Amino acid sequence: MAKRIPQDFIDELMNRVDIVEVIDTRVPLKKAGREYQACCPFHNEKTPSFTVSPAKQFYHCFGCGAHGTALGFLMEYEHLSFPEAVEALAHTVGLEVPRQDDGRGPRPAKQGEDLYALMGRCDEFYRQQLRQHPAAGRAVDYLKARGVSGEIAAEYGMGFAPPGWDNLLGAITAGEAPAEALRERLITAGMVIRKDEKRCYDRFRERIMFPIRDRRGRTIAFGGRIIDEGEPKYLNSPETPIFHKGRELYGLYEATRALRKIERLLVVEGYMDVVALAQFGVRYAVATLGTATTREHLTRLFRLTPEVVFCFDGDRAGRDAAWRALQNALPVMQEGFEIRFLFLPEGEDPDSYIRHEGREAFETAVGEARPLSEYFFDHLQAGLDMDSLEGRGRLVKLARPLLQQLPEGVFRQMMVDRLARLSGTAAAGLLTGAGSRPQTRPEGRAPGARRAASHAGPAPGAGPRTPVRAAIQALLARPELAARAGDPARFAHLDIAGVPLLVSLLETLQGNPELSPGALLERYRDDPHARHLSRLLEAATPLGEAELEADFLGSLGWLENEELKRLQERLLARGEHQLTPALLKLCKPVDSLSSEEKAALKQLFNEQAG
Ligand code: UTP
Ligand code: MN
Repeated sequence: MAKRIPQDFIDELMNRVDIVEVIDTRVPLKKAGREYQACCPFHNEKTPSFTVSPAKQFYHCFGCGAHGTALGFLMEYEHLSFPEAVEALAHTVGLEVPRQDDGRGPRPAKQGEDLYALMGRCDEFYRQQLRQHPAAGRAVDYLKARGVSGEIAAEYGMGFAPPGWDNLLGAITAGEAPAEALRERLITAGMVIRKDEKRCYDRFRERIMFPIRDRRGRTIAFGGRIIDEGEPKYLNSPETPIFHKGRELYGLYEATRALRKIERLLVVEGYMDVVALAQFGVRYAVATLGTATTREHLTRLFRLTPEVVFCFDGDRAGRDAAWRALQNALPVMQEGFEIRFLFLPEGEDPDSYIRHEGREAFETAVGEARPLSEYFFDHLQAGLDMDSLEGRGRLVKLARPLLQQLPEGVFRQMMVDRLARLSGTAAAGLLTGAGSRPQTRPEGRAPGARRAASHAGPAPGAGPRTPVRAAIQALLARPELAARAGDPARFAHLDIAGVPLLVSLLETLQGNPELSPGALLERYRDDPHARHLSRLLEAATPLGEAELEADFLGSLGWLENEELKRLQERLLARGEHQLTPALLKLCKPVDSLSSEEKAALKQLFNEQAG
C-alpha cells in the first residue's frame, strides 16, 4: 500500500520554503513592486504576465491563468507527482519526508488520521470475508446473479459482513490492548454500536459491503446491502469525523482511477447503478449517498470536469430530486460549466436501463440529456398559460429569485435574456424588479465593498467583493486573524455564498494557528473550495495590516447582523399576533438593537435548538 505523507509535514514544509526562491532558480524573476515577474513558463509570451507574490506565496499568470503554490509550481513545471514534488521541495530546505503506513503502521497522533487506518482495517476484513467466510457463498451468488464480475467487485473493493453480532469487533480488537479504547474508536468510526455500558455490536451484519472512498482512495465509510430482500435495503455509515455525506460521492475515486481524462461525470442515485455502469464500461458514474446533490458535491465534480449529467428515475421522486439538484447547482454555475439532466423511463434505473438497452443506447441517452437552461424554463412554465399576461408575469416571478442565485456572468445574462424573450419583457432590470432582493449581494453597508469602487476592481471570475470574500481574503493574507473570530460554527447555517468556505477556513486555522498562507492553500489542495480560494487570492488587493484587520472584523460584524436578521425573520414568521411587545421590540432594525437585545434574540433560538 502507498505510504502517506503526514499533513503536519506539508504544513511545516510550506512554512519553510519561499516560493520566490523556488521559482527563481528555474525561471529567473524580476522584482516589480511588491511582486516578482517573468515571462510565463507555461505559455508563449513576449511581455511578462507571470507574477509571483512573496506575501501570498502564490504565483499567477494573467495570460494563461496558471496559478498555484510552490508545490503546485514544481508539479507543473517539472511534471512531478504530488509526493515527488514534496520530496524535491523538502530536499531544498533540508527536511526528510516522513511516511505513514496507510494500514497498520505506527499510530499517528491526530484523531482523524487514525480513523483512516482503522477504516482500512475494517475494509480489509470485509474483503477477506467475501473470499473466505463459509456464509459468503450467498453474497457471491447474489452479485453474480446481478451480473457483477469478480474484477469489478475487486475494483470497487466490495466485501462481506458475515452474519453474527461481533465479527468485526472481534477481528479488529483481537490481540490489541487496550481493547476498550479500540472499541471506542470503532464506535466513533460508525462501525460498532453501543448497546449498553458493557456491550457493543457490529453495525453491519450479513450484508454486501460497498466501501466509500475519499479522493485519495482511503475508505471513510461503508454502505451495506442486504442480500436479496429485506429492510432496510441499504444501511449506511453515520456521519463521522472523516465522513460527511454532503461532500462524498460514491465511485468518484474509482472513476478518477479508471479514466485518464474525465470528459463528463454522471450523477446517479444508487451504489448498484455505479457498479453496473462500470460493469458495462461506463466508468464516469458517481452516486450521492442517499442525499440530495449538494453545492459541495457539485463544486467537487466541477474541479474534475466541465460537464455534469444528472441521471434520475422518471418517476415523481426522481423529478423532485432533479429539481432540488438544479436549485443547488445554480450558485455554482460558472461560464464553461455545463449541467444536463437525463430522465429515464418510468420504472428504470441506470442499472436496469443499461442491462436492457446496452451501453450504446445508454450513452446516446446521456449525450442527448437536456441542458439545465431548457429544463429550468420547461419546469417553470409547466402549468402556466404563457399566452396570458398573468402566466408570463408568474414565470418572471418564479424565475427571478432562482436566476439571482447564478453567479454574475455570461451564463446568467443568457438566462435573463431567455426569460425576457419568454415573458415578452425587456431584459434590463428584470432581475432587480420591485419586490426582489439580490441574494448573492448583501444589502447595506458592506465592509470591503467601499474599496472595490476606488480600485480597478477584482480580477475576472472573482465576482463582486462581498463581506464574505473580504473576510476570506483577509484570512489568506493574515491567517492569525482567525483567532479573533470566536466560534465559527455560529455562521455555519447562514445561506450566504462563501460562508461554508469561510467557516471551514476559520476552523482549520483555529485548530492550526501556525499555518502560513501557503500551507493553508496546500491543505485545500483536494478540497472542492480550492478553486475559489485561488481566485480570491488572485483578486486580493494588497492591503496594509490595519486595513486587513478592519476588513476582517467589519465582515464578521456584518455576518453577525445577517444572522440576527434571520432570527428576526423566524420570529416574525410566527405571526405578529403571537408576539408579545417584548418580542416585537427585538424585531427593530439590527443596527438599533442594544447588545442585551441581541443576546436575548440569540438566546431565544438557542433554547429551542437545545
Ligand atoms: P435504490 O433503491 O434506487 O438503490 O436507492 P439501488 O442502488 O438501485 O439498489 P438495488 O439496485 O436495489 O440494489 C438508491 C440509493 O438510496 C440509498 C442508497 O444510497 C441507494 O444506493 N438507500 C436506499 C438507502 O440508503 N437505504 C435504503 O434502504 C434504500
Ligand atoms: Mn437498482
